[in-house]
Amino acid sequence: MFKSILTLTSLALLATSTYSRSVWNTLDGNPSKLAGHRGEKAFMPEHSLGSYHMAALMAVDYIEPDLVLSKDGVLMVVHNEWLGDTTNVANLTQFADRKKQYTFKGKYSAINRTEWFVWDFTYAELKTINRVQDTGYPYRPQYFNKDFSVLSFTEYLDHVEGLIKTLDRPFGVIPELKSPEVFNALFPSANGRGYEDRLLDIMTKRNYTLNQPPPLSPVMQSGDLLDNILNIKPKNYAKPNYKLAALQSFDPETCEYLGKKTKIPIVSLDQNKPWMYTPKGLDKIASYSKILSPGKDLLLAGPALYFEYNKISYNKTEIESMGGFLQPKDLVREAHKRQIEVSPYTLPDSRQPSGLLCTRYNDTRFEYCPKNRKEEMFYFFDLGCDYIFVENIFEAQVLRLAFDNKIDSEDC
Ligand SMILES: *[C@@H]1O[C@H](CO)[C@@H](O)[C@H](O)[C@H]1NC(C)=O
Ligand SMILES: *[C@@H]1O[C@H](CO)[C@@H](O)[C@H](O)[C@H]1NC(C)=O
Ligand SMILES: *[C@@H]1O[C@H](CO)[C@@H](O)[C@H](O)[C@H]1NC(C)=O
Ligand SMILES: *[C@@H]1O[C@H](CO)[C@@H](O)[C@H](O)[C@H]1NC(C)=O
Ligand SMILES: *[C@@H]1O[C@H](CO)[C@@H](O)[C@H](O)[C@H]1NC(C)=O
Repeated sequence: MFKSILTLTSLALLATSTYSRSVWNTLDGNPSKLAGHRGEKAFMPEHSLGSYHMAALMAVDYIEPDLVLSKDGVLMVVHNEWLGDTTNVANLTQFADRKKQYTFKGKYSAINRTEWFVWDFTYAELKTINRVQDTGYPYRPQYFNKDFSVLSFTEYLDHVEGLIKTLDRPFGVIPELKSPEVFNALFPSANGRGYEDRLLDIMTKRNYTLNQPPPLSPVMQSGDLLDNILNIKPKNYAKPNYKLAALQSFDPETCEYLGKKTKIPIVSLDQNKPWMYTPKGLDKIASYSKILSPGKDLLLAGPALYFEYNKISYNKTEIESMGGFLQPKDLVREAHKRQIEVSPYTLPDSRQPSGLLCTRYNDTRFEYCPKNRKEEMFYFFDLGCDYIFVENIFEAQVLRLAFDNKIDSEDC
């Protein structure tokens, strides 16, 4: 049942936690948590009520919305700053003249395209635009394309809070602020952080800032993973006295600003900042963030190969002076040492190519290359990833249970 050689840490965890039979390599020893990427977009149009509802019925742990601002300053849930690829806007003749060229180049954000940009539409106009399923994936159902409009963030929160009540289980809300530089430029404010403040205002008004727990507080309050998925509560179950949430951004200055303003955990997303993958980089992240969320290749190929293939240059002397690049296993271990949880993105449906570098390039320097979704998920579970952004939550749940059983039987 338990690991035959128990380390001091896992002993301590076992003493304080009765949440899972098996001890995972995560920071708290619980199974990795699943975050539904844009809801459940393998089945429903992304960021629609249907997508969130389905994610909840599949017993996901966190439900992800992406945030942007409408013309009248309402936080809306849209992944890109534009609408052409995930809505029916191109078919709406009344909006034909809103298609525009827009160029922005900041430190962390860059846009250069002709599109229907979300900030050219009011909230009321956005409510007349429908969500549609991406046509790039022939197996995804297209039946729901007339059913759901674009949502505001408060509509998302109403829906998720309703599902928490109806289903009597605590789903986490994990909004991402998209391109803060762009929105703070388009919507100027006295402190230059009006975009971040709009989010904090809503989170505060809705009590997400009350009683936020210290790190290491378990999400899984169940006797074991299967019971947790089925919402079978243990005898000693205590309803959390706080609302489960985390705030994400790719902009490290936004993360730092948010981290100093709120106790809600901050997720540092990244795909292009070499300094983050060094011991000193992790020290800095730990001062404002509780979760590091790297693109998954950073945790598979390792930082050096990843930046080489993505043609991201860096100052080698500077990286060395920060302690040098950490290879995946060390990166997760060093993050955990600093109480930072790790959350790679994004593991797609098994019908899709994984998109991993090692599957796209023939290079013997890739030490391991998962051949299918099972191997990919097992790799990240084994590494001790605390959260994983997933699509097709059904498959992810099956694989998580299978992995839990595997370590359970190995530990006998
Ligand atoms: C746009 O209209 C065409 C023609 O009616 C239709 O085939 C297509 O599915 C529509 N696209 C969207 C995104 O609604
Ligand atoms: C934007 O894209 C256009 C067309 O691809 C290109 O000609 C132009 O140089 C780009 N502008 C910037 C600032 O990158
Ligand atoms: C927030 O918490 C306070 C104090 O417990 C309570 O009075 C208020 O109704 C709560 N507001 C919401 C929106 O839940
Ligand atoms: C690289 O980093 C080192 C150490 O921080 C610094 O002394 C040096 O000037 C940098 N080189 C360049 C080309 O920026
Ligand atoms: C990959 O590279 C190796 C060594 O260079 C070569 O022998 C092999 O044929 C290559 N495989 C593919 C699929 O290109």
